[in-house]
Amino acid sequence: MPVADIARLADHVGQLVAIKGWVHHLRSSGKVRFMVVRDGTGLVQGVLVKGQLPEADFAAFDRLTIESSLTLKGKVRAEARAPGGYELEVTRVEPLNLAQDYPISPKEHGVAFLMDHRHLWLRSPRQQAILRVRDEVCRACRDFFHDRGFILVDTPILTPTACEGTTSLFETDYLDRGKAYLSQSGQLYLEAAAMALGRVYCFGPTFRAEKSKTRRHLTEFWMVEAEAAFYTLEDVMELAEGLVSYVVSQVLARHRRELETLERDLAPLEAVVPPFPRISYGEAIARLQEMGNDMAWGEDFGGDEETVISQAFDRPVMVHRYPRSCKAFYMEADPEAPELALCVDMLAPEGYGEIIGGSQRVADLETLLARLEEHHLPREPLEWYLDLRRFGSVPHSGFGLGIERLVAWLCGLKHVREAIPFPRLLDRLYP
Ligand code: 4AD
Ligand code: MG
Repeated sequence: MPVADIARLADHVGQLVAIKGWVHHLRSSGKVRFMVVRDGTGLVQGVLVKGQLPEADFAAFDRLTIESSLTLKGKVRAEARAPGGYELEVTRVEPLNLAQDYPISPKEHGVAFLMDHRHLWLRSPRQQAILRVRDEVCRACRDFFHDRGFILVDTPILTPTACEGTTSLFETDYLDRGKAYLSQSGQLYLEAAAMALGRVYCFGPTFRAEKSKTRRHLTEFWMVEAEAAFYTLEDVMELAEGLVSYVVSQVLARHRRELETLERDLAPLEAVVPPFPRISYGEAIARLQEMGNDMAWGEDFGGDEETVISQAFDRPVMVHRYPRSCKAFYMEADPEAPELALCVDMLAPEGYGEIIGGSQRVADLETLLARLEEHHLPREPLEWYLDLRRFGSVPHSGFGLGIERLVAWLCGLKHVREAIPFPRLLDRLYP
């Protein structure tokens, strides 16, 4: 007897199949028993009619509990009224493990309770839908870069220095060589790889000891970063816009069912087609001030400002040329206005805010040396990075996209903590 995926029952109509999974729901009515079973690919209802299966198997139903594991055998029948469109006329019930009292019920639970039971919460239809969308987002990112000739280069997680500023570094002892830090970004290494391969990307976990307790901050998150030799800020904006619209189109094309489970309004996602609006930091400040926000020129935007700016557009907006004073040391100055950085943040609509940060990088050795000093960064552990400016330096640019922020937006989540299987937050390291 073939073992069938619930999602593929259409291929087995009229056949006897085995389904291996877990009990989702149980119901009795007279001489008939119903059980909804899930196997990770979908849900199907099994119907047990007394007399049509061994008495012991029929009796086994009464011992089953929610989340018990089992093998269910039966004949597949098309049933338009059943969720998924198919039903199983059950001929055998083979329990594997009878679950204890399952702590998560369809009733409302508090977030802290659900987070403490994250390892079980993942089984709920909503969380499964989010994980599927996340899988699609990661696949689409890889395909996008691969199709454009970008080479995947894995960058290290244990590093000797900061990339994005020293305040949010996780520190660890590195054997007898002193301190090491968990990577905040693969960018600096990716720049080296871009000088070897031209167009490169990396995709991995990054770590920030963020003291911020917001709906947008994790201490461990996944970032896909691209870097390309000879790319300017303009090139990298076009690349970022291409990536995001491609990922959105893939999720829309392949995951309607999940977006439905999540009750996601599709209209705002369907609007995500290039070109995305581009506004300068200066224009953004002027808009904010018009709307009564007293943000002064020179400060970086916080979550509130990003929300206000992004709500003014129906698709992601790219804010470029922030003051250099509020951005990282490696950003190239705008030759037209040296107080500005050739950088861009992409803000997602519907109030989601920053999902991408990128820039053109300083290409000149003397300028970079001066920057390290301004930012009080040690030169010695970055000598290798300085070498990139000594041996055939070229203009180059790149960006990083936060996977959880993108997934949270696409799924319409209130908080990034649901966009990653096991979130690491300021106040959470369990489970
Ligand atoms: O803007 P960030 O800090 O940029 C960089 O790290 C650059 N080195 C990237 C590059 O140019 N190669 O981070 C990039 C993105 C943000 O736009 C955001 O989406 C996400 O990473 N991000 C976070 N996501 C969740 N939790 C946090 N604490 C995050 N910090 C940044
Ligand atoms: Mg940023």
